[in-house]
Amino acid sequence: MKEDNRPKFTTKFGVIAATVGSAVGLGNIWRFPYEAGAHGGGAFLAVNILCVLLIGIPVVCAEFLMGRSSRRNIFGAMSALAPKGGRWWRFAGMLGVVSGTLILSFYAVVAGWTLEYLFQSVTGNLTAPDVRDSHAEFMGFTAGWRCVFWTVVLLAVNTVIVLRGVQKGIEKVSNWMMPLLFVLLVMMAVNSLILPGAKEGLSFLFCPDFSHVDSSTVLSALGQAFFSLSVGLGTLTVYGSYFPSRTKIVKSASIMAGLDTMVAIVAGVIIFPAVFSFGMEPAAGPQLVFEVLPDIFRQMTGGGIWAALFFLLLLIASLTSTISLSETGVAFCVEHWNLGRGKAVALTLGIVTFFAIFCALSFGPLSGATLWGMTVFDIFDYVTSNIFLPVGGMLVSIFVGWIVDRATVDRELRPASRFIRRSVIFLLRYVCPVAILAVFLNNLFG
Ligand code: PFF
Repeated sequence: MKEDNRPKFTTKFGVIAATVGSAVGLGNIWRFPYEAGAHGGGAFLAVNILCVLLIGIPVVCAEFLMGRSSRRNIFGAMSALAPKGGRWWRFAGMLGVVSGTLILSFYAVVAGWTLEYLFQSVTGNLTAPDVRDSHAEFMGFTAGWRCVFWTVVLLAVNTVIVLRGVQKGIEKVSNWMMPLLFVLLVMMAVNSLILPGAKEGLSFLFCPDFSHVDSSTVLSALGQAFFSLSVGLGTLTVYGSYFPSRTKIVKSASIMAGLDTMVAIVAGVIIFPAVFSFGMEPAAGPQLVFEVLPDIFRQMTGGGIWAALFFLLLLIASLTSTISLSETGVAFCVEHWNLGRGKAVALTLGIVTFFAIFCALSFGPLSGATLWGMTVFDIFDYVTSNIFLPVGGMLVSIFVGWIVDRATVDRELRPASRFIRRSVIFLLRYVCPVAILAVFLNNLFG
């Protein structure tokens, strides 16, 4: 089953940089702070950490091991690892490939916004004294064609990187971008912590008020964990298929989840002290980063520089995630249609660019084109985050927990101790599917 000519990541650092690169993205820096803001700060964080430990890490292990043991993308992995008669599992893999395409289509739009905001920060426009209304600025920008332009630029950058392949493209770019991202994070966090009023922001983030925990907190915390860890659609299966055979799966999954959660927390440490220090509203929703923060940077000493660094951070984070999403589609096209890498990249990114343009236009010319009150962008976001990812995650845990040959699972999880291997399998068999199903049904009908 193993293809030796399949490209592999070359170093341990490369494995961690690429997987953490996929996980750390808009989900941590853009989504986590506003979700936490809306669901009671520390209480949300506590539930989120629980979801990562009990559900996230086992499903990450499951995806890695599916990829590494089959050396295929999720569609191929499910065909190869299902016993005879279980061929319909392939369709679960197909769901992953479709989700990846849809997520990339709307994700690239938000990642494109970061390019515009970086550009505006560097040119000094973002923090210019005559800018009075960040909300109007944001609405004006997202409604126009510039937003489409930046989305296409972002996808073009992806095309160039993914075209260069697993080692020279994905691994190389992750290897220098991830350390830079961590340096930027630390610098920004220190700057926030020395602001007057930082304490209030920190206690909002860290003191859990459990009176805020209800089913919607649990739901959002699980959804956040899935989105943030990139699980449920086969991206990590593809990356797992590039792992050298000596890579320790449980250890890599834990490091990845640990760093991913840490980055979300640090993003909170950057944002909340600043929000409180400048008397803003913590639960400002998706606009938190694009409207509230520019207001803050405008009042901060050296705000122009901090704004540029912040949006550079956001850009790097989102770029390494879009690369992983692109590779999910590319690997599928290469393996199943026997396309050369060039053609596979052209096809995948061509389709994504087409959809992404519709998502980008959802804030302007297509804002009236809605279904059940949702624009194209909203539909892609809603369907993937609330339906495809949880269903995908549930299917992956059932597949690895119940369907894949137990000896294969056990072998791939080694050299983790027997206790750890058993715990992962137990969580995959019983805890993950049930918890995901409960949260999913509650979300749809609750
Ligand atoms: N984990 C990424 C983030 O937190 O921004 C988003 C993501 C990337 C989701 C890759 C899914 C995926 F396959």
